[in-house]
Amino acid sequence: MNEAFIAPSILSADFTRLGADLATCQASGANWIHLDIMDGRFVPNLTIGPVVVEACRRATDLPLDVHLMIQRPENLIEAFAKAGASRIIVHVETCPHLHRTLQHIKSLGCAAGVTLNPATPASAIQPVLGMADQVLVMSVNPGFGGQTFIPESVDKIRQLRAMLDEINSPARLEVDGGIIPETLRLARDAGADTFVAGNFIFHHGKGIAAGIRELREA
Ligand code: DX5
Ligand code: ZN
Repeated sequence: MNEAFIAPSILSADFTRLGADLATCQASGANWIHLDIMDGRFVPNLTIGPVVVEACRRATDLPLDVHLMIQRPENLIEAFAKAGASRIIVHVETCPHLHRTLQHIKSLGCAAGVTLNPATPASAIQPVLGMADQVLVMSVNPGFGGQTFIPESVDKIRQLRAMLDEINSPARLEVDGGIIPETLRLARDAGADTFVAGNFIFHHGKGIAAGIRELREA
């Protein structure tokens, strides 16, 4: 099983001090920085675009894990790659030509990830697993930080772990939404290796470093 990675989601960060918080994440042993891109259409919230990705690129050396919750992601993939995204994740629900979209991401030199909503079955992404560098299981309905982990996600992680193992895929299996030490353990036991956390890390009473440390210990 892959080494466990922690990916703080800046959705819950204090944007007035983003550079400093990214530096703290890096110094505290975060592996990736997760960026939630929302368009107010695919999801009922509007967040950040390439300008902020570019600012993050200058503020940290960590890989930038860019999660696109937007309609027609193919129109913006190049802009996010240029802004410094290391990894770009698209939703199967937004990509009628998912195979082509993943190829496009790879052709720009980024790792290509695919993700699926809680109501979408694992089988929906089976045909592209062989070309994915990363699979992201949404364990909340995308749109907001600070939601509660959906317990059924554990089964989906287990299914996708088995599907990836069957084809000897080295892809990372990531989980996003409602991650706290207890849910991290459930997801890890089911075979996930990369854990996105926003609220737990950035709103931790003892600070960002303590949040990352507690997840690492879990
Ligand atoms: C939800 C986002 C998540 C979110 C996770 O749409 O994709 O990355 O920020 O936040 P928490 O850890 O607060 O559930
Ligand atoms: Zn996300």
